Amino acid sequence: MMLSEKKVIVGVTGGIAAYKAADLVSCLRSEGASVRVVLTRGAQEFIRPLTFKALSGHDVYHTLFGGPDPLPHITLADKGDVLVVYPATANFIGQAASGLAPDLLTTLLLAFKGPVLICPAMNTRMYTSTVVQTNLRLLEERGLVIVPPETGRLACGETGPGRLPPPDTVMEMIRGALLKKDLGGLTFLVTAGPTREPLDPVRYLTNRSSGKMGYAVARAARDRGARVILISGPTALTEPPGVSVVKVTTALEMRRAVLERFDTADVVVMGAAVSDYRPKGVREEKLKKGEPEITVTFTENPDILAELGKNKRHQLLVGFAAETGEIPVHARKKLEAKNLDLVVANDICQEGGGFEADTNTVCLAFRDGRFFDLPTMSKYLVAHRVIDAVLELREEETGRE
Ligand code: PMT
Repeated sequence: MMLSEKKVIVGVTGGIAAYKAADLVSCLRSEGASVRVVLTRGAQEFIRPLTFKALSGHDVYHTLFGGPDPLPHITLADKGDVLVVYPATANFIGQAASGLAPDLLTTLLLAFKGPVLICPAMNTRMYTSTVVQTNLRLLEERGLVIVPPETGRLACGETGPGRLPPPDTVMEMIRGALLKKDLGGLTFLVTAGPTREPLDPVRYLTNRSSGKMGYAVARAARDRGARVILISGPTALTEPPGVSVVKVTTALEMRRAVLERFDTADVVVMGAAVSDYRPKGVREEKLKKGEPEITVTFTENPDILAELGKNKRHQLLVGFAAETGEIPVHARKKLEAKNLDLVVANDICQEGGGFEADTNTVCLAFRDGRFFDLPTMSKYLVAHRVIDAVLELREEETGRE
């Protein structure tokens, strides 16, 4: 989803990261959004209204009283599709949680009825303090989206959670906040990435999965209102905010993590490339050089999805299939063998798809024999098409009951 035609209100509060809000406004505008900026008094200590006037193309709102508009909080509340507070200080979060409205931004927050994103940024000790965490939980319980800060080096020189996420992370959250919440009340259990099967303390067997496809499913399901549990093999990807991430290494660990949470899931999407085999017996000592040839014996890993297929009750099961050659035939075989509802088959030989790429070219095989080829598109959009198919299957099921 692009943000063209969308009306975004950016609230900026008085933290050192306020300068990053200029970049956010610029990114929003370049995606075609119409942007209005509200600055608190503290924000103006860090960055001047003129910067935002130039970037947004509109006068900046910074006062409740004495401006040209007698009711700026109501005018703004009616004008926006989404409100994002970037960065949000501990003071703003405290006032918002208590329902206090001493200035324009806090008053606007009370009057605004659309989705709200809060992006806390502050010193680690402040962020992790009980009172700030309690306030954030309160806001979350009231339906506001909290975009968690990143961990890293902070302006004060300390290292820890508290860094404002970059504009592209927040842009993605804004796009997501504007989507229809058609997965509300559902839990998605998603797996992603490769597994890593150790041979000795320094070597392992793995595959080329980057995790991008599974992470895209997790983000898309989150954006449509699902509760998402993402079980991830080792990847270089950042944890998606708003998703509960469980990190695992081996296929056996992934199996345990999936089975422990299977009962709570409504939909399971197995995007991970699980290693079919693992070296038999991990050596405690590093395998030494010296022999001209060595033999490693592999033993079969359990098939997690097939096990879920045997034990499924209310859950819808979606498998991925990395295939070459006769894609529909292989997809159907997997669907039947593992008792699945849907198989997303990707031709891993095709350019612009499969392992590591940002795009994917897939076909969807349904349990009733239907089969659809999708054009090459971003993995995030593929994820949405998979979710659309899941919703179709759920509706069919409800119709039958
Ligand atoms: O991570 P990316 O770089 O974005 O790449 C995406 C992807 C190509 C890895 C992804 O789109 C994909 O196809 N994932 C499944 C790859 C795979 O392992 O296919 P498979 O045919 O071996 O397995 C079929 C299904 O059974 C998969 O859903 C797999 O998660 C599951 N499986 C496989 C083996 C096993 N022991 N347990 C399983 O649950």
